[in-house]
Amino acid sequence: MTALPARRSVRQLRLRGVGEADLDALAHLDREAFPDEPYPYFVLRQLYDVYPRHLLVLDDGTALKGYVLVGTPPDATRSWILGLGITRDERGRGHGRRLMLEVLRRLRADRVREVCLTVDPANLPAIDLYASLGFTAEPDVRADYFGPGADRLIMRLTL
Ligand SMILES: CC(C)(COP(=O)(O)OP(=O)(O)OC[C@H]1O[C@@H](n2cnc3c(N)ncnc32)[C@H](O)[C@@H]1OP(=O)(O)O)[C@@H](O)C(=O)NCCC(=O)NCCS
Repeated sequence: MTALPARRSVRQLRLRGVGEADLDALAHLDREAFPDEPYPYFVLRQLYDVYPRHLLVLDDGTALKGYVLVGTPPDATRSWILGLGITRDERGRGHGRRLMLEVLRRLRADRVREVCLTVDPANLPAIDLYASLGFTAEPDVRADYFGPGADRLIMRLTL
């Protein structure tokens, strides 16, 4: 019997929640995804403290390759996507869509009625992704939404 040739294994990224031990890796991932405006570590830490259930990551076994973070205010009818990022080497492979679909599934299960998010109006890959999931944009960009010069488009999805 002839031996099969060695094949390059394609590692499946595991979608999972996070624990405190992941925070350093999460901060590293966030800095790669948002080099110009990463969350300060203490903000990320406190977001984890407040929203641990809706902070999901993609793990290749050695490093985190993507994350999504959702916050739900106390009345629990509307949630906000607070962060979505994929490492550069893993973009364009369906991981952003996978994280969004899972988080939307969980929000539906929690009977959240609407999801909102802000996006840089120049960030066409992200806007395309959200539009393909059914999000619609407000007609006008909100000038200076995150401070001087940081305009944002607000997008919403009814669940
Ligand atoms: C935006 C981002 C999360 C998308 O993640 P991704 O894993 O690369 O996206 P996917 O492979 O799941 O693609 C899903 C959809 O996004 C859109 N998209 C992704 N990359 C795109 C690109 N370069 N140009 C246009 N549309 C793109 C497409 O609609 C795509 O659907 P399709 O594959 O059926 O065409 C990723 O590019 C990223 O991390 N960017 C830096 C951080 C960021 O901008 N986050 C969003 C902040 S609001």
